[in-house]
Amino acid sequence: MINRTQVGIVGAGPAGLLLAHLLQLEDIESVVLETRSREEIEATLRAGVLEQGTVDVLNESGVGERMMREGFVHHGIVLRFAGRSHRIDLTGLSGGRSIMVYAQHEVIKDLAKARLDAGAPIEFGVKDVTLLDLDTAAPRIRYRDGAGALRELACDYVAGCDGFHGVSRPTIPSRRRTEFTRVYPFGWFGILVEAPPATDELIYAHHERGFALVSTRSPSIQRLYLQCEPEDQVANWPDARIWQELHTRLATGDGWRLTEGRIFQKGIVAMRSFVVEPMQYGHLFLAGDAAHIVPPTGAKGLNLAVADVRVLARALTAFYRDKRSDLLEQYSTTALRRVWRAEHFSWWMTSMLHRFHDDTPFHHRLQLAELDYVTRSRAKATTLAENYAGLPLD
Ligand code: FAD
Ligand code: DHB
Repeated sequence: MINRTQVGIVGAGPAGLLLAHLLQLEDIESVVLETRSREEIEATLRAGVLEQGTVDVLNESGVGERMMREGFVHHGIVLRFAGRSHRIDLTGLSGGRSIMVYAQHEVIKDLAKARLDAGAPIEFGVKDVTLLDLDTAAPRIRYRDGAGALRELACDYVAGCDGFHGVSRPTIPSRRRTEFTRVYPFGWFGILVEAPPATDELIYAHHERGFALVSTRSPSIQRLYLQCEPEDQVANWPDARIWQELHTRLATGDGWRLTEGRIFQKGIVAMRSFVVEPMQYGHLFLAGDAAHIVPPTGAKGLNLAVADVRVLARALTAFYRDKRSDLLEQYSTTALRRVWRAEHFSWWMTSMLHRFHDDTPFHHRLQLAELDYVTRSRAKATTLAENYAGLPLD
């Protein structure tokens, strides 16, 4: 059976769902195809930090109400190194911007609800998604629906929002794309804990045993990460080892102590930097993790996905409303400028805060010198603050 829509969207992550929502506000029709179930996408634990521009987009498009009620606005972060804490005043240094701690899966729930309440389709549980005729004005998406029936969706444009492991990017002929990759020699071990917050602001800790991060989710649930081996296994980390490592890496001279609690979730995240250029092939546009990955240290991945789809939604709106294709033609160039800024920031934060396998005492001293400079120089702290809180979207 063949259906028709204006924009076929592959993937119901933050990129796909927000794009569908922004297009719907402009009366542009789309169909979202997702391999997983609604329950699965709403239960996947990932990002926690929304930058100012992301918060603004969600509010301006009418899906920010629960985030404003349940999220936590933070005006600073703490860098901890050599046993001492140093606050970076994000708001004071970035011209009044702040960040919101609100879990990615809550954003997903808000976006999925907005779309389904509006009676617009998200097809969950699809299989065998194949993109066809992308280099023509009549691209098609072939797939099996949740019941196993073969379907085809004819569209004007396809948005590849299917994440790093999706089908969209590999569908672009290899001679028409260039990929840039860096894999880091470590991962992040993440836990969720039943405990009250131990700190008012996120703590990014540099330690000779490796990086640690204290984040939060709610007054009773905390999110903690620590640097681990790239091929590490959850089974290698009994609770007692996790707490010992966290206490060691986060120790300060002033008696501050992390609050322990019941650990109810453990997982390992790989760390890589990746960009594909261009982010377009014919009538296919890539957005979010399908086009780029950053290591999580700068908290940029979800925010980049949001920035991409805002540029793409505007370009598609100019096409449908004013018959202008110039913004679509510029999409990749426009998006990549922000992508590479975030790639650099994420690489810089990662390099400054983690222990590397080939670390020498010289390298360790260089990291400490950089951290010392960031916390003493207003110019350097401003660089961190404006990138972390997020450069303006326009
Ligand atoms: P995804 O979220 O990966 O969504 C893609 C969707 O496409 C998925 O639902 C997938 O099931 C679906 N899909 C895949 N293949 C197909 C197919 N063939 N057909 C149809 N559907 C398909 N970012 C931040 O900004 N701040 C943070 O604090 C932060 N912390 C993070 C912490 C962790 C532990 C991790 C893992 C990531 C973190 N990130 C953070 C990154 C952020 O989670 C991602 O950048 C974000 O999810 C990207 O959204 P996306 O929509 O592009 O891709
Ligand atoms: C969280 C994740 C990040 O990658 C980060 O830099 C800060 C916080 C989090 O999950 O809360």
